[in-house]
Amino acid sequence: MLIKTPSDIKSSEITSKSTYLSRRKFLKTSINTGIVGSGLLLAGNTNAATLNDIRKSRYSTLEEELTDFEDITTYNNFYEFGTAKEDPVKYSGGFNPKPWSITVDGECNKPGEIGLEDLIKPHRLEERIYRLRCVEAWSMVVPWVGIPLGNVLKRFEPSSNAKYVAFTTVFRPDEMPGQRSRVLQWPYREGLRIDEAMNPLTILAVGIYGEELLNQSGAPIRLVVPWKYGYKSIKSIVKISFVEDEPRTSWNDSAPKEYGFYSNVNPNRNHPRWSQKKERRIGEFLKRDTLMFNGYADQVASMYEGMNLLKYH
Ligand code: MTE
Repeated sequence: MLIKTPSDIKSSEITSKSTYLSRRKFLKTSINTGIVGSGLLLAGNTNAATLNDIRKSRYSTLEEELTDFEDITTYNNFYEFGTAKEDPVKYSGGFNPKPWSITVDGECNKPGEIGLEDLIKPHRLEERIYRLRCVEAWSMVVPWVGIPLGNVLKRFEPSSNAKYVAFTTVFRPDEMPGQRSRVLQWPYREGLRIDEAMNPLTILAVGIYGEELLNQSGAPIRLVVPWKYGYKSIKSIVKISFVEDEPRTSWNDSAPKEYGFYSNVNPNRNHPRWSQKKERRIGEFLKRDTLMFNGYADQVASMYEGMNLLKYH
């Protein structure tokens, strides 16, 4: 489905390619020399603020080349702004992610609404370099900045009935032109089993390349679950619910035979309409093999012991 250009997007809101290219070079050098961690990056020609005091993480994937900042922020899936890869960067200029708060409810002792700053403040920001594998068979390597989801969730004291965690994206059709079409049931919803949510690899991301998330990347806060297909990594989260039963999710509702609840990256289980054996790394020419659990089997495979991964998709 095609979404028309909203007339209210100012050209000044669309960052030029040359700006991105010069920034990208700078950012890559900064990451390589470790400047990002010390908070010395200056915002300069960008419209996203620099994040300070970011520590490196032992969970980062260090052996692969990072995808360019330009690619990460111009080739996106964010159907709230349209279905084409270039729509999110083009049509998200009218979205306002500040101020922001998140409601936490359901099976926990300390439910409530919490401002973004208060949610983040008790935690130290970490750089987490992860592969991102989309179900559409493309992939990237993204230097996220975020905090472990499990540490955040523990503060709300989930009860023993909390078997799953459900996430909801903001619903603002005035600011998100894609939500005015019925390509998905809005708001976008996702979910994890509680042990998946508590796994140390799962993060809430607030930045990329040492800067706050841009709107098209899911500002101001999104999930990142690196061993699952990208659609589990829900953007612009406003609600987190502890629930007893497996929550319904947007893509599973829209095509249950194609998009399962678990959605672990699995080269041995093809999508009904295409193979999942290989992937195209954005910025590269040749396809590469897709890895079981997207290369994170050591950290996550034990959670699925005894489960038929070809059945639970
Ligand atoms: N979250 C919301 N709210 N809406 C979306 O359309 N798309 C998902 C996921 N999170 C999506 C979303 C899909 S299909 C992918 S592959 C990733 O976001 C893409 O993240 P990226 O655009 O930062 O690469």
